[in-house]
Amino acid sequence: MSAVTEPYFKIDGLRRLNGVLRVNGAKNAALPCLAASLLSDEPSRLRWVPDIEDVHRFLEILSVLGVESEFEDNEVVVRPSGVCEGSPPDALAAALRASFLVMGPLLVRTGMASCGTPGGDVIGARPLDVHLAGFRALGAEVESVGGRTIARAPTGLRGATFVLDYPSVLGTENLLLAATLAKGRTRLVNAAMEPEIVCLADALNQMGARISGAGDHTITIDGVERLSGADHELIPDRIESGSLLIAAAATRGQVCLQGVRPDHLEALLGKLGETGVEVRRAPAQLDIGVGANARLLATNLQSLPYPGFATDLQAPMTALLTQVEGTSVVHERVFENRMQHLGELRKFGANIIAGGAAPVVIGPTPLSGAVVRGTDIRATAALIVAALAAEGESRIYGVNHLSRGYADLAGQLRGLGADIELVGSADTLAN
Ligand code: EPU
Repeated sequence: MSAVTEPYFKIDGLRRLNGVLRVNGAKNAALPCLAASLLSDEPSRLRWVPDIEDVHRFLEILSVLGVESEFEDNEVVVRPSGVCEGSPPDALAAALRASFLVMGPLLVRTGMASCGTPGGDVIGARPLDVHLAGFRALGAEVESVGGRTIARAPTGLRGATFVLDYPSVLGTENLLLAATLAKGRTRLVNAAMEPEIVCLADALNQMGARISGAGDHTITIDGVERLSGADHELIPDRIESGSLLIAAAATRGQVCLQGVRPDHLEALLGKLGETGVEVRRAPAQLDIGVGANARLLATNLQSLPYPGFATDLQAPMTALLTQVEGTSVVHERVFENRMQHLGELRKFGANIIAGGAAPVVIGPTPLSGAVVRGTDIRATAALIVAALAAEGESRIYGVNHLSRGYADLAGQLRGLGADIELVGSADTLAN
């Protein structure tokens, strides 16, 4: 009997990326837009959906709640069967953070919602207080029993003005979903401004919701009686796009990304510009090219809610900063424990001085191949960036994390000339 090998990516580094690539639709827009299907009795079509683990897990949750779906060629058709009810199985709730997005729709439609502790990346405490305080502001009674959240609103939700303590992305989405069918007007103040919020609001408005101000600090929602289906295209994945730009820069490559939204990537493009990497823009296109001998310089960055530098790009960008000249301070200000990639980056030879949430990266350091493990989606992407820039062979474990959030990063990189292959069976993936 042969032993089951944990899959890993084998990468032979120091190949300059070169070529043209079309990016995928956004993971973090797909999940809330799928949650919106719980608000209607009518079928909806969602286009440009990334083929990733988190989408498949979310469709399983919807199935348990009474929404059947078909997923083909990056299109999902969802068919609700009457009023959906129930609760995500605990194992599925624990598989991804966005499982908690069923709370808002179920609460407003059935007067009762419950969900076990949502999972997702382990990147620090990820409380739910913003979601729960918002549900309470809309008139629900909320209790947490043994890690399970139960919310009740037997007489329905009523619109209210609610100031979010923090502009939580999923918190804003959950409240937006709930408020579309609440009675009267809701104002979400200090709302998250991420492009994924705008994408969700566009989908909901297409279903008949009355939402204005999405993408701004204050979102106004006038509740309606019912919502119909939608035919909605997702926005491009700005984190996948950013990861590919960073990988191209780290290998001093020449890459053209198509289907992108440059306006969603301003903070990253600004930081790349500070290092000396030039990215040319065209409508829905970004061209990056770094000369073999170009001098790249250090820069400081801090992750912040949008439109600040995305926390999801902090780890890949840190890998790139090991390859630029000088001292860069990287300050993670969104999650309390999103620095687990640092120890692994050091195994490649990176010179990084620990500094809690603000480590110092000193470059450029020639990297050499290493055996490392990614601990979350973006940390794994960062290790891939480092391996691409390292001399010799690397093994990156943590493939299961990557497949939660990237449709085919390894395939995309291979298409651009990287020497990367998945070793071991995908069937052995956990999670
Ligand atoms: N927070 C609270 N209270 C809450 C909710 C959040 O204090 O009720 C705090 C968190 O502890 C954290 C900060 O607020 O320190 C940001 O959390 P947020 O709620 O905004 O994050 P999220 O909605 O759980 C989404 C993305 C993450 C992304 C963050 C920040 C999805 C499914 N997930 O998470 O994406 O990092 O926003 O932009 O949309 C990823 O794709 O790899 C990923 C982790």
